[in-house]
Amino acid sequence: MIQPDVRTVELDRISRERLRSAGLDYRRVDPSDEAGFDGFIRAVARGFIEDEPAERVVAGSRPGQVGRRMIGVYDETSPQAELPVATVGSWIAPLTVPGGELPMWAVSEVTVAPTHRRRGIARAMLEGELRAAASAGVPMAGLTASEATIYGRYGFGPATWHARWTVDTRRAGWAGAEPSGSLQYLDREATAEALGRLHERTRHARIGEIAGWPVRWRQLSGAKPGEPHGEGVRGVRYLDAAGEMRGAMVFRIAGSEADWARSRLEIRHLIGETAEARAALWRFALQHDLVGTVAAGSRPVDEPLPWLLADARAATRTVEDHGWLRILDLPAVLAVRRLAAPLDIVLRVADPLGFADGAWRVESAADGTCRAVSAGGAPGTPGTTGAEADIEIGVAELSSLYLGGVAARSLAEAGRLRGDACAVAQLDAALRIDEEPFLSIMY
Ligand SMILES: CC(C)(COP(=O)(O)OP(=O)(O)OC[C@H]1O[C@@H](n2cnc3c(N)ncnc32)[C@H](O)[C@@H]1OP(=O)(O)O)[C@@H](O)C(=O)NCCC(=O)NCCS
Repeated sequence: MIQPDVRTVELDRISRERLRSAGLDYRRVDPSDEAGFDGFIRAVARGFIEDEPAERVVAGSRPGQVGRRMIGVYDETSPQAELPVATVGSWIAPLTVPGGELPMWAVSEVTVAPTHRRRGIARAMLEGELRAAASAGVPMAGLTASEATIYGRYGFGPATWHARWTVDTRRAGWAGAEPSGSLQYLDREATAEALGRLHERTRHARIGEIAGWPVRWRQLSGAKPGEPHGEGVRGVRYLDAAGEMRGAMVFRIAGSEADWARSRLEIRHLIGETAEARAALWRFALQHDLVGTVAAGSRPVDEPLPWLLADARAATRTVEDHGWLRILDLPAVLAVRRLAAPLDIVLRVADPLGFADGAWRVESAADGTCRAVSAGGAPGTPGTTGAEADIEIGVAELSSLYLGGVAARSLAEAGRLRGDACAVAQLDAALRIDEEPFLSIMY
């Protein structure tokens, strides 16, 4: 597919009219307009309850916005005319899915000023972005959410989960192999570069990952100006026995006032191209002198960490939803979806925004992927009926199932879909994947 330039995709007219009738101006931010760009970045920082960004911090955000769509909602009565009361940013990111890759309309920087909350501004922006994405032919939208209660209403469903580990290093010990390679410290810029390179080499192999971008890596490595605690961040890389870089990690150590020898090491990001590299980086963290606790967020839920420890109970894990997806074009997303078993069912999809609504015959194709054809109810026409459905499902739940990270049976048990047990089992067998889907970055 030829990818559209998100910056020139038209602003949604319905949302513009809706906001205009509330006295608000919904418009694109021109990055070459210094005051407009500055206002957008400051409004995003305010929305995410961060400090007012200094000029160098605003300037440091600029490279991350190149090629992206930035939209502000302006209240003309505000004494700060250049500061939007709401923001949204988007771009197209390749998403790794079972069977290949899909262009995904990534939605980010969703903020509404507390002075203007709960009057439908976020709804107008979200629906506007979804209609813009669909009009540009992008089949899927995605985001990461500050709260799990915000986005289901727009048809987004959680599709990847991540784990947070906390390890008591005094108890943990080590049961893994001795790594055959070596570790080296890197400076912050070199660490950012290493993380970017390794992510690009590994993201195609992990369902749920999206492409990264340089500012994200500079943020994680502490190289981005104004990054909170940036100066405390350190980076190491792992070289295999042949001297090839196979992994990198960024971390920060917070000293303990009560006992210096029990400081806390927080892993900000860890990438390993091989199991050996991942284990070596964990081992480095767990055996670090003066550290009593190692914590790491955003790790795959199937990471074998307890198996690397002499005492598996030294590690505790919490799991949370992370990457959310929203199907916009059902035939297009299923056309690349590799299936693990044959499938032939009729789905009745409820999509209040219309994009995937209708009855669909979903069947395996000869090439191992899947085909969805309308089975009566016209797609994009909410409320239409079609052939007798085997499963009735909302678009948010279908989006959760798409990568294979949750079983249809679980959703059925929770009353989140209705269907014949055989059809549900058939769907689960077809969507089964070998590894948990995982998204390592937040956006
Ligand atoms: C989340 C946020 C963008 C919502 O903006 P808003 O303009 O107040 O939202 P809207 O008025 O358009 O609300 C639309 C619907 O979402 C609901 N909603 C909004 N924020 C919600 C929240 N945090 N939790 C649960 N529901 C929420 C509203 O009740 C409303 O529900 P309804 O249409 O079913 O009646 C805003 O509160 C915000 O900026 N929060 C801080 C930054 C943030 O977390 N952004 C999200 C980044 S992923």
